[in-house]
Amino acid sequence: MKRADAARRTLLAMTAAVVILGGAAAVPAQAAELAPGALAEVAQAAEPATGALAEVGEAGAQVVSSPDGDLRVAVATVDGRLMYSVNSHGKTLVGASGLGVDLAGRPSLTRGMSIASVERRTINETWKPLWGTSSKVRNHASELTVHAVQAGTGFRLDLVFRAFDDGVGFRYHFPGQSDLDAYTVTAEQTEFALDPAARSWSIAAGKTWSADEQHYRDLLLSGVATAQTPITVAPAADSYVVVHEADLTDYPSMTLKAVPGRPGVFSSDLIALPDGAKARLNGEFATPWRTLTVGERPGDLGESHLIENLNDAGAICGDTSWIKPATYVGVWWELQRRDTTWTAGPKHGATTARVKQYIDLARQAGAKFVLAEGWNVNSGGSWSGQDFLTPQADFDLPEVLRYAADNGIGYIAHNETRGDIDYYDQNLEKIFSRYEELGIHAVKTGYATKFLLGGVNRSHYDQEAVRHYQRVIDAAARHRITIDAHEAIKPTGLARTYPNMMTGEGVAGLEQQNYMGVNGNPPAQATILPFTRFIGGPADYTPGVLNVTWDPARLGTRVQTTSAAQLALYPTFFSPMQMLADTPENYAAHPEFAFLKNMPATWDETRVLDSVIGDYTVTARRNGGTWYLGAITDENDRTLQVPLSFLPQGTFVAETYADAQETTWKGDPLPVEIRKTLVRW
Ligand code: NOJ
Repeated sequence: MKRADAARRTLLAMTAAVVILGGAAAVPAQAAELAPGALAEVAQAAEPATGALAEVGEAGAQVVSSPDGDLRVAVATVDGRLMYSVNSHGKTLVGASGLGVDLAGRPSLTRGMSIASVERRTINETWKPLWGTSSKVRNHASELTVHAVQAGTGFRLDLVFRAFDDGVGFRYHFPGQSDLDAYTVTAEQTEFALDPAARSWSIAAGKTWSADEQHYRDLLLSGVATAQTPITVAPAADSYVVVHEADLTDYPSMTLKAVPGRPGVFSSDLIALPDGAKARLNGEFATPWRTLTVGERPGDLGESHLIENLNDAGAICGDTSWIKPATYVGVWWELQRRDTTWTAGPKHGATTARVKQYIDLARQAGAKFVLAEGWNVNSGGSWSGQDFLTPQADFDLPEVLRYAADNGIGYIAHNETRGDIDYYDQNLEKIFSRYEELGIHAVKTGYATKFLLGGVNRSHYDQEAVRHYQRVIDAAARHRITIDAHEAIKPTGLARTYPNMMTGEGVAGLEQQNYMGVNGNPPAQATILPFTRFIGGPADYTPGVLNVTWDPARLGTRVQTTSAAQLALYPTFFSPMQMLADTPENYAAHPEFAFLKNMPATWDETRVLDSVIGDYTVTARRNGGTWYLGAITDENDRTLQVPLSFLPQGTFVAETYADAQETTWKGDPLPVEIRKTLVRW
């Protein structure tokens, strides 16, 4: 491992490091020393894709520009099809791309369309999230609504575009019109014409419960056949765009598929209902936004609020004090490592005594919640016959709740539905109202394995599945309960509207160290996720395992990072419910646990300082007067110099938790060097 020490400079990152700046800090700006190879690689991918990216000509088109003028969206009809293109800083970002929807029993809305009229307005507001990556969010966009009509049928279709400084959103709107009572979307024909020579990071499209829990691929875009969203594309070293969606309500999830014979061009591919239909709608309806988050640096993507801004303002009125961003601990990693069991028996994990130990840990850590998986009857094994109100015999729920309350800790009730949604839907109201009576204000849902709704096996991401997750959010809000949803739908910013929808999985999180073979999550994944999966919203990655080699059941697997890298995940990965995943015993044995004490789970300010996707990333987040900085590298050692120019002038105490000189992620991942220095800026 390399190390750089220089007078009046602060070295912030080694193989992986974390710094707390408790009140102040300093250092003249210095450029990052490493990763020229990676930057060159991105630059090579910047070759223009000749011919592939012709734009919709602005002459005769409707054009909407971002407030700073750098992004321009042109919309026009070409041979009866609505088309759009996006230009960023004078260069084509999205070439001429088709729009349209197919409805059952009607001529495709990709044909015979013309623009009847347009409307324009400006949105300019600042809103304050209950929790998030910044305490204030500016929502500033120019909006263009195109009212289109189809020749022959007279069917009216609107397209609403919003151009922000950090990207573009557009959605279809079916205005109220005669004969629109019940209709079926059979396909959405939205295209994204991107540079086929661009570098991209994505996971393949899928529809089962684990489709979002895959490792991100680093591919030339021309090599991508299908993708889940978000997918991140870098046409040049200074140009990044993430395709995703926002406000996914009452509609299926969008995946992308390559259009045959047109390299770099992708079409939306909605997840189908069991009978092949995509969405069943009734009357006026606005689809989710199709989003393009745009930046010149990866950090621009990580700092963007585009997805949240494309969701409606908060719908939970009145007292919201029960929505608490916080860290949590719990009976979880010991189950994943097979030290204890979800099932009843001699090795049962969630016993009264054991959960009390975790409550003690929560108190020491400044965490606010405790999770106890395996607390209810018939947990584990086939998980059948569970109910979410009856504890296992050795788990005294009232006593645990009393002990937790006495210590100022909330209880997270685990509801592993195992996909039995019919049961869950039918009992939701009963379960959540009882939880409210008991003072339980947090639920972790789970949908591992098949998804049975209305007695029919279906995708986790179709329209009915999306409606189910929404029913859970709504029922939870009525009973003052927050949700952490595993194996559910990817985040699309809905938490702006429903801030009780705290976090979710939809990521190959820490537990995949157990399920993806001995290699688990390769180290580079943590340098990709902030610019892909996390663009959608928070993820319950469940970091914080400091004893990364702990293997009590001799599974032969381990966490593929160093202990210091686990610490660095806290400023790097955002989640308003953020787990401290290790056991009380492991934390007691690791002095670097000090870093996790009183770790914030919401931030006033976020700066993604320096990143090369797939190689390294450095993120600083402020909570009150304290900055937390995380630096993560892939499997290669590297030394980074990080200018502290983001700090106000003054003197700060820097507490540094970094890989020690002898630390290697494969051979000796545990040593963490802890230092305290004074830094000035
Ligand atoms: C998978 C979830 O992601 C994990 O967190 C949970 O422990 C198991 N399912 C059991 O519900």
